[in-house]
Amino acid sequence: MTQTILIIGGAGYIGSHVQKQFLAEGYHVIVYDNLSSGHKCNLLPGAQFIHGDILNKEQLNHAMALNIDGVVHLAAKKAVGESMSQPELYAENNITGSVNILNAMVKNEIRSIVFSSSAAVYGMPKYVPVDEMHPINPINYYGYTKCAIEQNMEWFSKLGKLNFASLRYFNAVGYAADKSIIGKEENPQNLMPIVMEAATGKRNKICVFGQDYDTPDGTCIRDYIHVSDLATAHTLAMRYLFDHHKSLTINLGTGKGVSVTELLHATERVIGKPLNYEYTQRRPGDPAVLMANAQKAHDLLGWSPQYTEIEDIIQTVWNLEI
Ligand code: UFG
Repeated sequence: MTQTILIIGGAGYIGSHVQKQFLAEGYHVIVYDNLSSGHKCNLLPGAQFIHGDILNKEQLNHAMALNIDGVVHLAAKKAVGESMSQPELYAENNITGSVNILNAMVKNEIRSIVFSSSAAVYGMPKYVPVDEMHPINPINYYGYTKCAIEQNMEWFSKLGKLNFASLRYFNAVGYAADKSIIGKEENPQNLMPIVMEAATGKRNKICVFGQDYDTPDGTCIRDYIHVSDLATAHTLAMRYLFDHHKSLTINLGTGKGVSVTELLHATERVIGKPLNYEYTQRRPGDPAVLMANAQKAHDLLGWSPQYTEIEDIIQTVWNLEI
């Protein structure tokens, strides 16, 4: 029988790619989204849509009552800087909203949740690549909210109410190669969409935050993982929950580091023209190097990223512009 997956935040950047993957694997998909940052144009043929908010318990309960087999939860605010100046927004949306989801699941006896967590739970890495045994010590409120939700899920799991898969994303980039997802984030804060805005003339320059880090070219190194590879991990994780009835927490990254300068040069090669950028001051809270050890995802889920070259990843973003 076809299984039904409720994808909360399924119209957003990562959520829409997750929606695509579940549909491709033959699931019945219901997207639940308040469209605060997601886009209606990201809803794919075959997906059912509920315009709902995770702060509205009644709406949430109503959606959970629709014979749902598993929940994917990606609905969250994610601007690190904003989380430090307005923590109350993050407490409510991320923490209260997630507790509402867990409670609605328990009420409707739904036992499987795949949760979008973040490498931000680790804070400043004590070693790289970071594995899942690395101490949890978030250095911003956004990272704390992810940590708090993981802890809640741990308790619900320990108390026999549900099983969870917490997926700690590293730097999500790229778009589906077939251009089926076209909704872009407004006012992006992350490097890749900012670089694309410069590539298309929407902004006139890119500020590179710091050139004096202890890395080969002095700029920060990150682990950029293609969003379609992230999406595949969600279906594998859901299948794991259905088959094993056991919770898991895994990193999702390529294990390969790319510096900001390398990313800019790779983009210039892809778009075939120079970018306008300048080196400015460091951004507070940026670790010099952040890379994942994703061996556990490979061992438990059989997952490994298909995109390993940064140019190929950037090409999928540029394809939307040409
Ligand atoms: N950067 C610039 N200029 C910009 C924007 C970013 O030089 O205009 C640099 C940053 O300093 C950093 C790198 O590009 O060195 C990547 O920055 P992003 O903001 O794209 O990503 P982060 O690594 O800071 O953050 C990402 C996610 C967060 C998550 C964090 C840790 O966006 O949600 O990884 O996992 F918390």
